[in-house]
Amino acid sequence: MLGNLKICLTLGLGLIQTAKAMPAFAPPPSVSGWVRNGEALYFQTNDKDNAVVSVKIMENGTLGQAHSFYTNGTGASMISAATNMTTSPDGLSSQGAIAVVGHNIFVVNAGDNTVSMFSIDEEDPANITLLGAPAAVPGDFPVTVAASALNNLVCVGTSGTRSGVACAPYSPFVGIGKMDFLRPFDLDQSETPVGPLDTVSQVLFSDDETKLLVTVKGAPAMGKTGFLAVFPVTGQCLTGEAKVAASRIESTLNGTVALFGFEQIANSNRYFVADAGYGAAIISVDENTDSSQLLHKQVISDQKATCWAAISPATNSVFVTDPLVNHIVEMSLIDASITSVINTTTTNDATGYIDLTAAGNFVYFLSPGTTQGSGAEIAVLSVGEGQSKKIIQSFNLGSLAGSSAQGLAVYP
Ligand SMILES: *[C@@H]1O[C@H](CO)[C@@H](O)[C@H](O)[C@H]1NC(C)=O
Ligand SMILES: *[C@@H]1O[C@H](CO)[C@@H](O)[C@H](O)[C@H]1NC(C)=O
Ligand SMILES: *[C@@H]1O[C@H](CO)[C@@H](O)[C@H](O)[C@H]1NC(C)=O
Ligand SMILES: *[C@@H]1O[C@H](CO)[C@@H](O)[C@H](O)[C@H]1NC(C)=O
Ligand SMILES: *[C@@H]1O[C@H](CO)[C@@H](O)[C@H](O)[C@H]1NC(C)=O
Ligand SMILES: *[C@@H]1O[C@H](CO)[C@@H](O)[C@H](O)[C@H]1NC(C)=O
Repeated sequence: MLGNLKICLTLGLGLIQTAKAMPAFAPPPSVSGWVRNGEALYFQTNDKDNAVVSVKIMENGTLGQAHSFYTNGTGASMISAATNMTTSPDGLSSQGAIAVVGHNIFVVNAGDNTVSMFSIDEEDPANITLLGAPAAVPGDFPVTVAASALNNLVCVGTSGTRSGVACAPYSPFVGIGKMDFLRPFDLDQSETPVGPLDTVSQVLFSDDETKLLVTVKGAPAMGKTGFLAVFPVTGQCLTGEAKVAASRIESTLNGTVALFGFEQIANSNRYFVADAGYGAAIISVDENTDSSQLLHKQVISDQKATCWAAISPATNSVFVTDPLVNHIVEMSLIDASITSVINTTTTNDATGYIDLTAAGNFVYFLSPGTTQGSGAEIAVLSVGEGQSKKIIQSFNLGSLAGSSAQGLAVYP
């Protein structure tokens, strides 16, 4: 509680903003060699008995031991519109199926409409502890989660019949409070959604934690264009009354198809968004009106479904993945142009990578393995200065995770 007050007061005085604007407090993120490497990675198995797998990151960026921790919730996968069968991999069709904020992990359980919360042991970040029973979400089929430490709020996006966004307060040492209500989206979905089109992709707080942003995929065959929804955070965090507004500004971004994973470009009002329909885009969100605009659009010519995006502080560029094309594409944060392509056919048994996360001089990629039995893997891409970008390890998760594995987040 005291910690929160301090953060609130600091923000109230504008000190956090100053710290952000003045890199003297910390090395600028673009200077590689100075960036801080991660200490542990987390993803969810999305098995029926859902679990979080934690993987220790060694000092040289490679991966050490992995451990599994039940979420006490239930995993589930979408139905594929193309085959009318359970989707595997990428049964959630989302980025942010798991999120790390401060010393906490949040993870959605699509099969029983809940969200679980863990605390991370600072001394040994691969050791995590479930905090309380999973919190009930007033929506169907939660696929993505985001949290704001400043406001002590966690928000979940759902893709099923009751699709939309719901939020709850949380306490870092206790767990998640009661979810408020569903802010519905007009998707024509069933309880177990039929995807990937016409579903929620990702929820994310802006870096200053004053807005919650949500990407929703369109469905061209139904004449629907995807959109970005922006919900302002209202109320004072100081009095513990911060809330995500009930209403939003929805911007239909003409020219986009299936807006998917996204990340804010540091110190700007621009966001880099993967689009499964063609590649990726850079959009802006107006600070005052919350409406957004397409700034740059980049086609990846041989892509099938570019879904996930992660900005690397070491390269000051963004990496995107495609579950159906065995490559990693690096793109510019200025105009989304393609700056490099890494052919991963020889390092990855699966047809491509799914979620990814960047930390320090490395980028980590989740490979769901093949449905025929080769287990999930995490590839470690070295991107440090003066090094050629190459995969230095493909870490096999053995029996801990299979092709329904989803999400990837790093601590700190
Ligand atoms: C990284 O460190 C680990 C543990 O110290 C060691 O086993 C491994 O060989 C190192 N790998 C590389 C690529 O340096
Ligand atoms: C999809 O599968 C379900 C259950 O297996 C079946 O009831 C339904 O008719 C199928 N739909 C289509 C479009 O094939
Ligand atoms: C894991 O973390 C919990 C909570 O901090 C602690 O009680 C426990 O001793 C830790 N376990 C190990 C093996 O370090
Ligand atoms: C999780 O479920 C197990 C088995 O039912 C139970 O023993 C444990 O108390 C639960 N954990 C929490 C934090 O509720
Ligand atoms: C997008 O297209 C629709 C339909 O053609 C049009 O009404 C709308 O103004 C366009 N939006 C933008 C931002 O161009
Ligand atoms: C990737 O590498 C494989 C194996 O070397 C090769 O067969 C394939 O053509 C390459 N793909 C592209 C797009 O260059």
